[in-house]
Amino acid sequence: MDLSTKYMGLNLRNPLVISASPLTDNIENIRKADEYGIGAVVLKSLFEEQIREELDTKLNREDMFFWYPEAAEHIRKISDKESIRPYLNLVQAAKKETSLPVIASINCYSAGGWTSFAQKIREAGADALELNIATHLPGEEDMYDCGLEENITDIVKKVKEEVEIPIAIKIGPCFCNLIRTGKKIEAAGADALVLFNRFYQPDIDIDTFEVISDQNMSAPEEMAQSLRWVGILSRHVSMDLAASTGIHSYQGVVKQLLAGAAVTQICTTLYKRGLQYIPWMLEDLESWMKDKGFAAIDEFRGRISDDRLKSVKFEQIQFIEKNLHVH
Ligand SMILES: Cc1cc2nc3c(=O)[nH]c(=O)nc-3n(C[C@H](O)[C@H](O)[C@H](O)COP(=O)(O)O)c2cc1C
Repeated sequence: MDLSTKYMGLNLRNPLVISASPLTDNIENIRKADEYGIGAVVLKSLFEEQIREELDTKLNREDMFFWYPEAAEHIRKISDKESIRPYLNLVQAAKKETSLPVIASINCYSAGGWTSFAQKIREAGADALELNIATHLPGEEDMYDCGLEENITDIVKKVKEEVEIPIAIKIGPCFCNLIRTGKKIEAAGADALVLFNRFYQPDIDIDTFEVISDQNMSAPEEMAQSLRWVGILSRHVSMDLAASTGIHSYQGVVKQLLAGAAVTQICTTLYKRGLQYIPWMLEDLESWMKDKGFAAIDEFRGRISDDRLKSVKFEQIQFIEKNLHVH
């Protein structure tokens, strides 16, 4: 059975990728994930603020967008610590001690002050760079998402000028026209698009009247959003698409591949089941392929999105079933 796949020109032994998270912030886990058969790893993100702090191109903190509360918390914890060197050491160790494609990751929101650092990541041995540019919502009246688009394309162009390795852009779903956004990101030079980053999920504690969040982990039902957009965008862009959010089992992997994803990124499911779940997912994927008579991933990748009669359903937004059963 051939599970191998290509992602941004990199050769992966299979389409399972650990997404950026603390799961990949240490060499022990990366080594283990390699032994368990993962296809590639995206390292835990370094934040633009961390890089600028050390490169001494600090921003006025009031100008920073902290809509991604993980960033705010993270920056508070690390602001005075050296963080660039340990990150580069991790990239080096991951390349030296495993045979995995290693994708470094940076959470960023501007095209200035930090992009020369991308070169250092390449020199440390990273095979590619993923930029998480989903760090703020269009949450103010005068902020148009076209502004966000421009911001993203500026970052892509700047980083592509600085470094030759492939670049993936990880975005959230809050855009008014994702087809246009995807095309602009591709035209700016991105090699892949990751759909989607999962935002902080707010809740309200009705006893304390505080806004809280205890939902760091996704549910499998959340996958529908990325499935829809992987299915739609794969007809409109030729850069690779990585599916992320809500992929908890081999079924999720199969569905995203059928919709046209090049790879599937997983995080929550490994938090819940441990890294030892990787070979189970791979075995189940193989069994499904065997059962359906496929010998290689490329024999079924994009099968649904390529079929216009079927893929048009990705665009459907209204429910049309009339006889829904009510208990
Ligand atoms: C604890 C935790 C930390 C995360 N840290 C990062 C990060 O540093 N950079 C990033 O791009 N995404 C980060 N993410 C988002 C994940 O990479 C992933 O996109 C998200 O969890 C959705 O995938 P899942 O449904 O498989 O969990 C983090 C997620 C979790 C749960």
